[in-house]
Amino acid sequence: MGRAMNALFDKLRQEIIETGPLTVEQFLTSALSDPDHGYYITRDPFGARGDFTTAPEISQIFGELIGLWSAALWQSMGEPHLFNWVELGPGRGTLMADAVRATRKIIGFHEACHIHMIETSPVLRASQQKSLTGAGVEAPHWHTQLSQVPAGPMICIANEFFDALPVRHFKRNITGWVERMVGLNTARDGLAFLWSAQIVKQNLIPEVFSQADDGTLIETSPAGLQIMSDLAARIATYGGAGLVLDYGHTRSAHGETLQALRDHQYTNVLDAPGEQDLTAHVDFAALGRVAQTAGLRVHGPCTQGAFLNGLGLGLRTRALQDNAGSPQQARAVFDGANRLVDPAQMGDLFKVLAIAHETLEALPALPLK
Ligand SMILES: C[S@@+](CC[C@H](N)C(=O)[O-])C[C@H]1O[C@@H](n2cnc3c(N)ncnc32)[C@H](O)[C@@H]1O
Repeated sequence: MGRAMNALFDKLRQEIIETGPLTVEQFLTSALSDPDHGYYITRDPFGARGDFTTAPEISQIFGELIGLWSAALWQSMGEPHLFNWVELGPGRGTLMADAVRATRKIIGFHEACHIHMIETSPVLRASQQKSLTGAGVEAPHWHTQLSQVPAGPMICIANEFFDALPVRHFKRNITGWVERMVGLNTARDGLAFLWSAQIVKQNLIPEVFSQADDGTLIETSPAGLQIMSDLAARIATYGGAGLVLDYGHTRSAHGETLQALRDHQYTNVLDAPGEQDLTAHVDFAALGRVAQTAGLRVHGPCTQGAFLNGLGLGLRTRALQDNAGSPQQARAVFDGANRLVDPAQMGDLFKVLAIAHETLEALPALPLK
């Protein structure tokens, strides 16, 4: 049960009084993207003074290696003279700025790329503009949806994007599946989870869970699957590939993973809507199935550690350490790079999956599924 005295709570309370409990997905959509109070709409949540940090903010090597991965992919696509280099949810724009810098010596690559940033947050869009000003490539284009990117071959990057999309929760009862809702706990003047009385339509439940036992709880991400489906359809038509890096599981499994972070601490999901980061682990198997259905090849998933080490993280770390101005700086370079690949830190929890046009048989540092 969450207590929350803020403007978005007041708005949600009114909505629940007027139209009844919200689905978890409706609650998350408001908490993350409400046009006035949504978490991503109102703030820059990154770094030591924010709620969480991400790989590109930890080490420049992350964006650099993804830049080189993109350039190698462009070469295996036959070096198209124009392609869309797309990033979904680019945060502060750090990954793309590092990727652009790392690829400046690859002949023809910058001339061929049109950068498209898919971002709903005006605050982060301004941050991205700042990061990419003077980066040495044609000015990027901003959109709120993938469908706004012009036709053409695409290399798409999504780091910690899919975990930020709303999820739904369902539970198997003797009579069928019911949905978890968000209603009011009037005694505490807060929000509370409850289960819908109605049985939901069977088409909301993924086929892999159709034989689940009574009491089974599952989490689905219709928004994530829809974006994956749009991405896969474009790649199938125009060529290219998409790279997804995120925390999550490689097999669809029971249970729920929705979590809230504030000031780098785990908190109650229903507390202070719009003021804390709400995420769920990514079901990589479900994303892969969508791409396969669209006729794409699925590469991976593998661990982030294996992917970055395979792309030469060790060599790049040593080069940066050799150029460091002080032993402390060299140590910071090592610590940042190590955090990305250490199995006890981000190396194993984070996974990497690529979806690619059927003509792309091998991708750098990723095994074919
Ligand atoms: C967890 S942050 C990751 C940022 C960045 N990729 C990084 O690694 O630092 C999620 C990003 O996705 C954006 N975002 C969230 N929901 C979105 C949506 N539905 N469409 C586009 N961008 C979205 C956020 O504003 C933010 O830029």
